[in-house]
Amino acid sequence: MSISFGGDYNPEQWPEELQAEDVRLMNEAGVDLATVGVFSWALLEPEPGAYDFAWLDRVLDRLGAAGVGVDLATATASPPPWLAHRHPEVLPVTADGTTLWPGGRQAFCPSSPVYREHALRLCRAMAERYAGHPALRLWHVGNELGCHNALCYCDMSAAAFRTWLAARYGDVTELNRAWGTAFWSQRYGSFDEVQPPRTVTATANPTQQLDFRRFSSDEHLANFVAERDVLHEVSPGVPVTTNFMVTSHIKELDYHRWAAEMDLISNDFYVTAADPEGYRELAFCADQTRGLAGGGPWLLMEQSTSAVNWQPRNVAKQPGELLRNSVQHVARGADGILFFQWRASQAGSEKFHSALVPHAGTDTRVWREVVELSRTLDRLDEVVGSRTVNDVALLVDYQAWWACELDSHPSVDVTYLDRPHAVHAALTDLGIGVDVVHPDTDLSGYRLVVVPTLYTVTDAAAAAIDAAVRAGATALVTYFSGITDEHDHVRLGGYPGAFRDLLGIRVEEFYPLRSGERISLSDGSGADVWTELLHLDGATAEATYADGPLPGVPAITRHEHGEGVAWYAATRLDQHSLDALVRRVATEAGVRPIAPGRAGVEITERTDGQRRWTFVVNHTDTDAEVDVAGHDLVRDAAHDGRVPPGGVAVIRR
Ligand code: GLA
Repeated sequence: MSISFGGDYNPEQWPEELQAEDVRLMNEAGVDLATVGVFSWALLEPEPGAYDFAWLDRVLDRLGAAGVGVDLATATASPPPWLAHRHPEVLPVTADGTTLWPGGRQAFCPSSPVYREHALRLCRAMAERYAGHPALRLWHVGNELGCHNALCYCDMSAAAFRTWLAARYGDVTELNRAWGTAFWSQRYGSFDEVQPPRTVTATANPTQQLDFRRFSSDEHLANFVAERDVLHEVSPGVPVTTNFMVTSHIKELDYHRWAAEMDLISNDFYVTAADPEGYRELAFCADQTRGLAGGGPWLLMEQSTSAVNWQPRNVAKQPGELLRNSVQHVARGADGILFFQWRASQAGSEKFHSALVPHAGTDTRVWREVVELSRTLDRLDEVVGSRTVNDVALLVDYQAWWACELDSHPSVDVTYLDRPHAVHAALTDLGIGVDVVHPDTDLSGYRLVVVPTLYTVTDAAAAAIDAAVRAGATALVTYFSGITDEHDHVRLGGYPGAFRDLLGIRVEEFYPLRSGERISLSDGSGADVWTELLHLDGATAEATYADGPLPGVPAITRHEHGEGVAWYAATRLDQHSLDALVRRVATEAGVRPIAPGRAGVEITERTDGQRRWTFVVNHTDTDAEVDVAGHDLVRDAAHDGRVPPGGVAVIRR
């Protein structure tokens, strides 16, 4: 078994003669997996029902002959212009009624039966044609489902939404209760009166918005499942995936509901170039992807060799950054490193996106780094199939993310991912591995459970967290957690309703801070954004506010609960202060680092039960001292205790 290496291959954008050179270069670069056909629908089916597979046959044959496996797209990602020309009702519509026209990609309504019918026909034709092809390794449904058409508000979507609501609530009285429609005269007499949350006067019903997101995620998932079932039927034994977008700027789909339907979890991740510490988001998202994969290996379906084309300033990667990014993904469970895309496009809106083969050809830094990366990954092949065992679970939930960032909340400065990222960074800098998992995950093996900004939580998840602490775990809860139930109704009796008993506190009122206002705590910590009028109800105050609107009120609390301990941070501690709190909580919880870490040095581990591999990624410009003994697979030499600036090590222990 080996770490897969390769990327999206779009030979249809080039003269066919170039393919011979493509496969020669793929062999030179050690490419063993190419994603083919993602945006080929218009070429494969130039007219409805008339297929032209000949060119794709030759591509697959050529790749197969060269030993390059194929991740074959069903080609349903982007319908050809003829579909909307004949069936304009297939086009997606925004909340304010604007139709999104062909000319970009993914111009279809997820609830469109016309799209579904045409997509399934193509999917079946692809499966019938290529099920037995020797190069076929993996099926790739659509592409980044919901990337541009996650939420469609057209009449077809409205009808499907009503059907979905009727199935969820049974009768409209239940919907009225769940949506709190006694407010603002919103009571519905029947499901027929219900609309998607189109542009409204004032502010829209929050539960309507939440349910519309749930519905929309389910609609895209249903499209995936429909194609997957065709592939399973016609092409049994070949795994089926679709590339997720687990990243900090996309929250459209509830991937926790999707994960169970996948044969293999795959993800696309692009570093935010404007963020000098963009590697931190990568680390978080890779851990989250592993969580979706149930702790097992997954595939990085796309990253970039250097700059992308869609950020405001598309900064090129520094020498060595590509290696570090790639090893970060492997360290956190990826068993394959693929890219968008093989050859940089000459035309189209992505022509300035980097690729394995740049516009300038192979006498380039990027190409040399690609080849070098591939050789390095070859030396890591023995980690394939291994897993990660961590003491810390950090809970994330797309539905809590959606609800937390709805309008009309106490402060626009409370954003969902802020605390998960901050705590993850604190733990990472300590050299502590973290599993980023859904609240429904079995928490029994964890010493520390982090509950950051889990604004909406179900009774069941709250009870499981409580039970884990009673049984001896430590919890660290941050503000604006446990506030509402799954209908986004406030849990009464004092905040945070779901975690009052767990934390031994009762919050009377929120006191958000003004923009830019900074406060300090009795222990010297600094904070901003948020404070709460908090009363102790069994907990002890570990720090109080020294200033701000609530001097003397507890800001950090600790509560012994059953066999365990529950901590609460009621304010937005600055990173330095949060680092200190996390160090204290983790130490007290008996969570030990893999090896002592420091800011900018990632230390993580994979194991197959017999062997352990310690991954070190040094993002800093000084040596990282990492005192573990073993063989460094990257240098193929004994690890000498240091990893150079910008360097990586994978130490077999
Ligand atoms: C996404 C898509 C690719 C390409 C890249 C560019 O990940 O899946 O087709 O558009 O973005 O970064």
